[in-house]
Amino acid sequence: MGIRLPGSSSELRLRGNAARRLRLPQQPLRDAQRSRSLQTPKNDAILTITPLATRLRQRIAEGGPIRFDAWMDACLYDEEGGFYARGATIGPRGAFATAPTLHPAFGDAIAAEVAGAARIIEVGPGDGTLAARLAATGAEILLVDRAAGMRAQQRERVVASLAEVETFAGAIVANELLDALAVRLVVDGREVFVDVEDGRFVQVSRETDLAAPSTKGRFALRPAMHRYLADLVRPLTSGRVVLVDYGNDGPGDGRREPIRTYIGGQPGGDPLQAPGTQDMTADVDFAQVRGVLADLGLVELWYGSQADFLRRHRIAPPASSARSDDDWRLARLMDDRLPFRVLVAALRRPVRMAAGR
Ligand SMILES: C[S@@+](CC[C@H](N)C(=O)[O-])C[C@H]1O[C@@H](n2cnc3c(N)ncnc32)[C@H](O)[C@@H]1O
Repeated sequence: MGIRLPGSSSELRLRGNAARRLRLPQQPLRDAQRSRSLQTPKNDAILTITPLATRLRQRIAEGGPIRFDAWMDACLYDEEGGFYARGATIGPRGAFATAPTLHPAFGDAIAAEVAGAARIIEVGPGDGTLAARLAATGAEILLVDRAAGMRAQQRERVVASLAEVETFAGAIVANELLDALAVRLVVDGREVFVDVEDGRFVQVSRETDLAAPSTKGRFALRPAMHRYLADLVRPLTSGRVVLVDYGNDGPGDGRREPIRTYIGGQPGGDPLQAPGTQDMTADVDFAQVRGVLADLGLVELWYGSQADFLRRHRIAPPASSARSDDDWRLARLMDDRLPFRVLVAALRRPVRMAAGR
């Protein structure tokens, strides 16, 4: 079982070893086989009977190639066939594990960070594990999840859109939300679209209107981030925003494949295959996020690694000789080599809305 991380093959080996140290459950064989078979072209014969794949082929036949962000959005959030819309299983036995599903100390640290907030909104709550921890503080909890299949997993009050949230003073929390927002993919200065060739989904490239960071390399970009974060913080009249995710201070160097997939707790297959059956994600550009929040009038209170954030809240695993399985999970979350970052910002004056809104 791995948590969702950028991976070269050596990093994946490290992750495998770490997983053994954590003694997390082994994957059922059928999931492992499925994960591998997604990468084989032969498997496309199976995809022709997937309703979402059929609809995407139809959409491309009628309207031409679709831009990668529209493809990713459909794969994750299509109302009938999207990976999250159908209801993903998150946690050690699910498609992937996240920090709150691996150890309760993560939720305790987030709760401490927003202590005193009478109302907490969590956006993208997944299976609700973090929300349950936050509810224990006595704060009123409201959840926002775009995906019906994820909303169905919640015990707290949940709505579908930030637009339904009334203004309030308190805190907004999101763990691994931003990485699940669709990206535009620019390769060697040209934008990636998805087309169909002989029934198979294929990548084609076109001129882009984006200012790509370099002419060479593969970049996943979120030009809609300003608009999204403006929507995210709009309901807040005063209080804190806590965002946790994996990423870089910038768009990356373009030398690594920026799109990653996960299925059954393992790296998944080609992002152009099996739409809706696997998770799809890309690193967050924290330089962009920090810039947008500053632009929106938020004051940055703290930014650093997840490990330092947990230490900041006096969390530490016992010495390795005395660790339980749970302690090893916590130690894994506090591994300084992980790319997870935490951003805490405060709003003390009205949010400036994005231009044109
Ligand atoms: C990677 S999961 C993270 C789940 C959870 N926070 C955790 O740490 O286990 C991303 C979640 O964000 C939700 N999501 C994605 N885009 C969203 C949006 N625009 N508004 C609200 N929720 C969204 C997805 O449906 C999913 O539940």
